[in-house]
Amino acid sequence: MDDLVLCPNPLRLAAGVDAACLPFGMETARRTRAFHQGLSAYQPTPLACLPHLARALGLGAVLVKDESKRFGLKAFKALGGSYAMGLALADALGIPAQEASPARVASPEARRRLGQMRFVTATDGNHGRGVAWAARELGHRAEVFMPKGSARARVEAIRALGAECTVTELGYDDTVRLAARHAEACGGMLLQDTAWPGYEQAPLRIMQGYCTLALECLEQMDAAGLGLPTHLFLQAGVGSFAGALLAFFTAHAGKAPVACTVEPHAANCHCLSFEEGDGKPHAAAGPMDTIMAGLACGEPNPLSWQILKNHAAGGLSLGEGVAANGMRLLAAPESGDPAVVSGESGASAMGALEYLMTRESMAENRALLGLGPSSRVLVVSTEGDTNPAMYRDVVRYGRFACL
Ligand SMILES: Cc1ncc(COP(=O)(O)O)c(C=O)c1O
Repeated sequence: MDDLVLCPNPLRLAAGVDAACLPFGMETARRTRAFHQGLSAYQPTPLACLPHLARALGLGAVLVKDESKRFGLKAFKALGGSYAMGLALADALGIPAQEASPARVASPEARRRLGQMRFVTATDGNHGRGVAWAARELGHRAEVFMPKGSARARVEAIRALGAECTVTELGYDDTVRLAARHAEACGGMLLQDTAWPGYEQAPLRIMQGYCTLALECLEQMDAAGLGLPTHLFLQAGVGSFAGALLAFFTAHAGKAPVACTVEPHAANCHCLSFEEGDGKPHAAAGPMDTIMAGLACGEPNPLSWQILKNHAAGGLSLGEGVAANGMRLLAAPESGDPAVVSGESGASAMGALEYLMTRESMAENRALLGLGPSSRVLVVSTEGDTNPAMYRDVVRYGRFACL
């Protein structure tokens, strides 16, 4: 397989905003941001502007949202877990969702009424760390399941937040099913970042939590006089992150930017679904062996798939070296541009952008996506060095080269 493959989406709507985007509009984003502002660790993460890279790639602007700085957790994911947990607590207390704040759902009175609740989830690392952190912040317990082969550093980071963490003998998607069964058996509350029939409220709220990140980007681009992004490159595991961001920008502008999902070859379920072209989400099979652990998910979230099916331009499937190149590019940027610490899943979108813009073989794809001097490209570095040993091997020692 080539290092990068573009799978265009044949079902993308030519115009308009699909109803699936509406729960992710400005009103939601303002509400989720107000909730997050009530957490003492909240600060908007930086938006790095890389003008020298933009010039070198022949683009108008390249912006990198740096989620390594989120809540001291090195990834964006806690935005979703904390918001969904806050609203679950508000439900249990009879507080209307629009009035939920960390102070109200974790007040001494609230804690006395609820006792200690148990939140259960499955994770590749970052979502579980976010749920563990939110449970600690809001005074509850978290129990986290991880797929086989999970990096030790990611397991330890979850345990360090006081959560129970079990590494299973299963792949990611089966670990999600195991967590769901466990929550049911132990009377815990499942906080999963993907949906299935009958389980939609928590994943919807998790996706809405990501709107805080999108709103910050919008305001930061506006403050820099840049206007809206014309292009988004969005990493997709189950697709919740990509769906939420695309829905926010589409609802805000009244039309979709040119957006591509970014996935490893080993877990390219969105690419497969675009390729099938029947409008249904399709699962990727196989062992999902990839350094992009956060993207190693085989089954799209049906909620976000609805958004991506209608508004994404297509999907990009990547070899490991493309993501590794993205990590190195952000660690050692063009002279004059700021450096960003970005992990394997975090840098994959930047790796894809660089590959698209610099390879002769990609000329047709560049034209198809309309990438050029008037493009303002937004990528999110969704994590920092969440696996420090891998980060060192890739960035310092050049592991996973893609020449
Ligand atoms: C660093 C990172 N980036 C992107 C994603 C993809 O998010 P989603 O699973 O919502 O598609 C994840 C998921 O865990 C992640 O950890």
